[in-house]
Amino acid sequence: MTNAVIDCIVSRSAAKYYDRSACLSDDQIRELVRIGTTAPTSFHLQNWRFIAVRTPEAKARLKPIAWNQPPITEAAVTFIVCGQLADSSVIPERLAPVVEAGIMPADLVPDWEIPARGLYQDFPQRQRDEAVRTATFGAAAMIYAARSWGLGSTPMIGFDADAVHRAFQLAEDEVPVMLLSVGPERPGNWPQKPRRPVADVLNFA
Ligand SMILES: Cc1cc2nc3c(=O)[nH]c(=O)nc-3n(C[C@H](O)[C@H](O)[C@H](O)COP(=O)(O)O)c2cc1C
Repeated sequence: MTNAVIDCIVSRSAAKYYDRSACLSDDQIRELVRIGTTAPTSFHLQNWRFIAVRTPEAKARLKPIAWNQPPITEAAVTFIVCGQLADSSVIPERLAPVVEAGIMPADLVPDWEIPARGLYQDFPQRQRDEAVRTATFGAAAMIYAARSWGLGSTPMIGFDADAVHRAFQLAEDEVPVMLLSVGPERPGNWPQKPRRPVADVLNFA
């Protein structure tokens, strides 16, 4: 039961050491984000934004507020993966291209917007949970796409969220969910660590 996709998933590990001389072109970065944005989001909210930190100046700005983690200066690019607080009022605009493409009948749009309003509008914790879920799905798709291109990646939560918010001018409704470094690796990274047995993490119901 294996194939190239599964091989890519099961062989990934978090990188620590990157080829410091490697760059990714803006087109490669755009393509990685495009792939990331094919991940699913609740009500098709697409409540994410990706800041590609790839110049020496921007890396130097990020590193001290991210625990001085080496991938930030070593990897070709580090994404600040932002989730946006879930806001049901954007749903008509987000679904318009789906209607235009003939995928969804226009009269179904309120059937998505109204329940989303009930779910999120008066519930700040749910708005934030959705921001975190959305950004995490996007980052995961980018991690595996990068792996399929032979690139390493490092998801990182070791950073000062308030400082990142300020230093990169995030909007009030944006949460810096994680940093994600991506780039060609250099030798020395650990292989993938053993996992807890499936029997310990799976229950059938
Ligand atoms: C949400 C999240 C946050 C993480 N934060 C960091 C981090 O700040 N620095 C770091 O070096 N690794 C970080 N990691 C990498 C984990 O340590 C790593 O994924 C874990 O040890 C499992 O190893 P593997 O990814 O190589 O299988 C993070 C991973 C995740 C999913």
